[in-house]
Amino acid sequence: MERNALLARFLAVRARSERLMSPLAEEDFRIQSMPDVSPPWWNLGHTSWFFAANVLRPNGAEFGDFPGFDYALNSYYEGLGPRLPRAMRGRVAQPSTDDVRRYRTAVDRATIALLRAADEATFVAMHDAVVIGLEHEEQHQELFLTEILHIRWSAPEALRRAYAAPLTRPPSTASSPMRAVDHRGGMQTLGHDGEGFCWDNELPPHPVLVPDFALADRLVTNAEWIAFVEDGGYRQPLLWLSNGWTAVQQSGWQAPLYWQRDGVGWRRFTLRGLVPVEPDAPVCHVSFYEADAFARWYGGQFATWKHARLPRECEWEHAARVSGFDQRGGNLLDEDPMAGALDAAPAGSREGVRQLAGDTWEWTLSHYEPYPGYRPFPGALMEYNGKFMDNQRVLRGGSFATPRGQARAQYRNFWPADTRFQATGVRLLLDRTGH
Ligand code: AVJ
Ligand code: FE
Repeated sequence: MERNALLARFLAVRARSERLMSPLAEEDFRIQSMPDVSPPWWNLGHTSWFFAANVLRPNGAEFGDFPGFDYALNSYYEGLGPRLPRAMRGRVAQPSTDDVRRYRTAVDRATIALLRAADEATFVAMHDAVVIGLEHEEQHQELFLTEILHIRWSAPEALRRAYAAPLTRPPSTASSPMRAVDHRGGMQTLGHDGEGFCWDNELPPHPVLVPDFALADRLVTNAEWIAFVEDGGYRQPLLWLSNGWTAVQQSGWQAPLYWQRDGVGWRRFTLRGLVPVEPDAPVCHVSFYEADAFARWYGGQFATWKHARLPRECEWEHAARVSGFDQRGGNLLDEDPMAGALDAAPAGSREGVRQLAGDTWEWTLSHYEPYPGYRPFPGALMEYNGKFMDNQRVLRGGSFATPRGQARAQYRNFWPADTRFQATGVRLLLDRTGH
């Protein structure tokens, strides 16, 4: 990217993080509602620390003295020094939000000055680390939205506050019945092979033998999920993987995260507050285990979907190439976060495969592993993705909380199979192989 374009992008991404946090009250910044949820002060600081550690310090740029900040804001980089344990971030004396903002401003000024003043060779050498810092910050913008949802939901019910005002949406559009769209497989090239940024885990492009399959033309809806709940899906062990059944029992799962049933019927807590469960909208905030059990249940309900299962990531990516990954049409996070839906929305009844880009992340059957020929980023950033390729599943497509510029057909998100606080949903695949 050219110097002025990179500077403009730096300002835009940094500004959106501030805008996302503007509805917060001081007390919101302190809360860590569970170990995986970052308190907002940490999110604001960590995304700045990333530039301090990977851009400023390697270039000898001064930005002031902030004792303890490296220790507090390093997330998981063993190579970059000791750090505050993840689960402790909300449980120890913390820097004030004002101090974190001062740190943020100092990092901004120093990074902008460095970008402006660097000679051509220095600029070229630092370019990739700046881009990674911005992509990283955008990942944390999505994390922030899922975290503030969890933080606000964790309050006693009478004290729960919405993050954003309710949206006056047109009356719900009906979703057409789920249709299976046939796809021819064969030898396909998968992985990122185009222009533009990608993470190390999307490389290299490589051949994969993809079977023939049929893919659902939309996400699984809330109405379909309610049918699963009412049929006792959460009480039938034979539908579940062994670890999934253990999770159901230990965690008492009876419905997606944030759902409640009361005199009014099913309602769910969203970024825009408590709303009725919209039957035609996609189900959101379910774990891999629930998605997998749902697929097995659905196959037992409908003869045409007898061999329903979750897609593998190679099948999903191939389908996204064939059907087109409509990033511009997708329900993703826009420049003005408050103008968007901030929630998954119904698929409507248009023909063809819909909702690949945005609405909810889609669980795949695939374990998160390196592609053949995978090489981690060089230097300290080798820890960014590679060391997490263990005991996680891949998700595809992006959600309503994913910054639009991040969404692409090859992007590999990953979370442990019992994760529910991310904006995760379900698309089914019909296995055409076997007998
Ligand atoms: C790709 C969303 C799983 O949350 O650990 C943030 C993104 N990596 N900082 C994560 C990430 C480093 C990552 N996920
Ligand atoms: Fe991070």
